[in-house]
Amino acid sequence: MIGIIGAMEIETAALAAAVEKKRIEVISGITYTSGLLDGQEVVIATCGIGKVYAAICAQTMILHYHPAVIINTGVAGTLTPALGIGDVAVATKLCQHDMDTSPIGDPVGLVSGISKIYFEADEKTSQSLAACVEASGAKALAGCIASGDQFVATAEKKAYIRETFGAIACEMEGGAIAHVATVNDVPFAVLRAISDSADGDATMDYPTFARMAAERSVAVLRAYLRSLSV
Ligand code: ADE
Repeated sequence: MIGIIGAMEIETAALAAAVEKKRIEVISGITYTSGLLDGQEVVIATCGIGKVYAAICAQTMILHYHPAVIINTGVAGTLTPALGIGDVAVATKLCQHDMDTSPIGDPVGLVSGISKIYFEADEKTSQSLAACVEASGAKALAGCIASGDQFVATAEKKAYIRETFGAIACEMEGGAIAHVATVNDVPFAVLRAISDSADGDATMDYPTFARMAAERSVAVLRAYLRSLSV
């Protein structure tokens, strides 16, 4: 079974609607839709915005549905001129840009306990997703995606995250899903279409482009599922 997590309805509704032999369960307020999508057994969840919701969802999905892999899909802000609105970031690794115990001597971004700043995404799944992006005619860029409980909308914050973590895109859930998947030994991937510039223009871009970007991620994910079924 493939687990699919998106934060918002615009990122998941079209996927959940297309599921056949549908079974719906609500656990801790999060709806899980399982069944067959494009020939694959899937479970799809809309977790809510931010790292805590994403972690609740990923842990529940792992314990309850035992997915072989978890894919986080949706939209993100760009941190690099190499990724424009409508292009797609595929994570090689994830970090949590708002994790900071540096005043007590740790490197910025270190998740203590497991002593990691970066969580490596599953290479095979990520490469296949990137190939599906390219096959759709969109541009794919592989790199680090940074997550935090903040909508990034200033040039200063954008530059900080890019320069501190070498990240190409920012969002609010992938790093938490990566953390939960890693401690449970479950492979994961993160696919994010760019909805905004993550700087002073972001609050204008986002309402205009989020839906289009979310539709792009949905289309790529479905192409990926079909590619597994041939
Ligand atoms: N998701 C989409 N755009 C974002 C941004 N600028 N910051 C955080 N999460 C986002």
